[in-house]
Amino acid sequence: MNGPFVKKPLGRLLAEASESEKGLKRTLSANNLIALGIGAIIGAGLFSLTGLAAANNAGPAVTISFVVGAIGCAFAGLCYAEFASMIPIAGSAYTYSYATMGELVAWIIGWDLVLEYALGAATVSISWSQYLVKFLHNFGLHLPPQLTCSPFESVTMADGSVVSGILNLPAVAIVVALSLILIRGTKESAFMNGLLVILKVAVVLVFIAVGWGHINPANYNPYIPENTGVFGHFGVSGILRGAAVVFFAFIGFDAVSTAAQEAKNPQKDMPRGILGSLMICTVLYVLFAHVMTGLANYTEFKDSAAPVAIAIAKTPYEWLQQGIIVAILAGYTSVILVMLMGQSRVFYSMSLDGLLPKTFSNIHPKFRTPYKSNILFLFFVSLFSAFVPVHVVGEMVSIGTLFAFALVCIGVIVMRKSQPDAVRPFKTPLVPLVPILGILICIGLMASLPWDTWLRLAIWMGLGFIIYFTYGKKHSKLRNDK
Ligand code: ALA
Repeated sequence: MNGPFVKKPLGRLLAEASESEKGLKRTLSANNLIALGIGAIIGAGLFSLTGLAAANNAGPAVTISFVVGAIGCAFAGLCYAEFASMIPIAGSAYTYSYATMGELVAWIIGWDLVLEYALGAATVSISWSQYLVKFLHNFGLHLPPQLTCSPFESVTMADGSVVSGILNLPAVAIVVALSLILIRGTKESAFMNGLLVILKVAVVLVFIAVGWGHINPANYNPYIPENTGVFGHFGVSGILRGAAVVFFAFIGFDAVSTAAQEAKNPQKDMPRGILGSLMICTVLYVLFAHVMTGLANYTEFKDSAAPVAIAIAKTPYEWLQQGIIVAILAGYTSVILVMLMGQSRVFYSMSLDGLLPKTFSNIHPKFRTPYKSNILFLFFVSLFSAFVPVHVVGEMVSIGTLFAFALVCIGVIVMRKSQPDAVRPFKTPLVPLVPILGILICIGLMASLPWDTWLRLAIWMGLGFIIYFTYGKKHSKLRNDK
């Protein structure tokens, strides 16, 4: 078929993989992959959105939101694991769907992944800025709120006056700095990544250990605050909407699949890397959220993007705050870097396939990076970092990623039907039950997000359709090669 449902044959994909494999070494063990996953996973979702989800949606029951989010991710993770072991090539969900559901769906996923990676980087950069402000504040340095908030946010000053933001300058600065590092081709080495992961996990463990003894049980009463009459504001619907918000904290496990070509033993280690990092993070998240909402009342986290600082202030160890904030800032930095890199890789693949202008796969003559993609996203991500509040971008990332996960789950079912004999080193158990549950949970979590987030998704996808039908369809390499 040579229409919008034209599929990239599996053989062609694997041939492209071995072609691009020439420069890559298979050096990553299962433990390296788990570290990579944790490196990309733990970030703003935990250190920032936990407080917002507790204050606005679930109260202390944000712990249950984390469990719901983890279950949804586990189903999607099992589907990712099948594809990653079967098609061990970078490009992730975009590539898988090109092989299973055809070009149009691949385009939809690729376009949708911009919400995950580019806006993911924007979200984490905004949270990074909030923690930086807090860090400098503790040293007596006060950045003016006009330059650290979006125009949609305001800050009440000590004298009672209310100041509105103009733009979030520190968030833009970190995006620009990391984009420039990516253009220069500076890669995080496995050593560096390992170091950041140790630092991040250490912070989480120290927080849990230090906070545990100072929990005030009164903060858990009520554990599930009563619904206010509005869907998503506490009660069971609040837990669900909270799950959709903190789902952001799990995003990144799919980044493991982009390293498939560098894994020593992708068939076995991809599933271990994906599912292992998910499991470890889930346990840490539930304990962390439990301590956080036990130290301070969930209402105190309202409007705060740096809730860890509020919680730590409830312990006698306030001096720990600066160290913890530095580790959080370092941890965020790796998440932003991985997201920006993932984004440029997806655009690079789409451009190589002809669905986007060739310029996005131009490689810098000296640095050998897709620098034009990096420059485009330097501006695109900076705009969101500067002018959009954290919860708006965070929810867009969640809805976009949930949509991609649902499509990957559908892809597993389609592939089992269309290519029943293809070699599958890892098989998703209980097909079609597991993918169907994955789809239902993803759709359920999407349904619990506010309607304006849906509207933004619809506008973004509508824009994508216009670009596909006016450009991608005509320039597709796969169609023109036929
Ligand atoms: N999971 C990543 C984070 O929470 C995106 O920052």
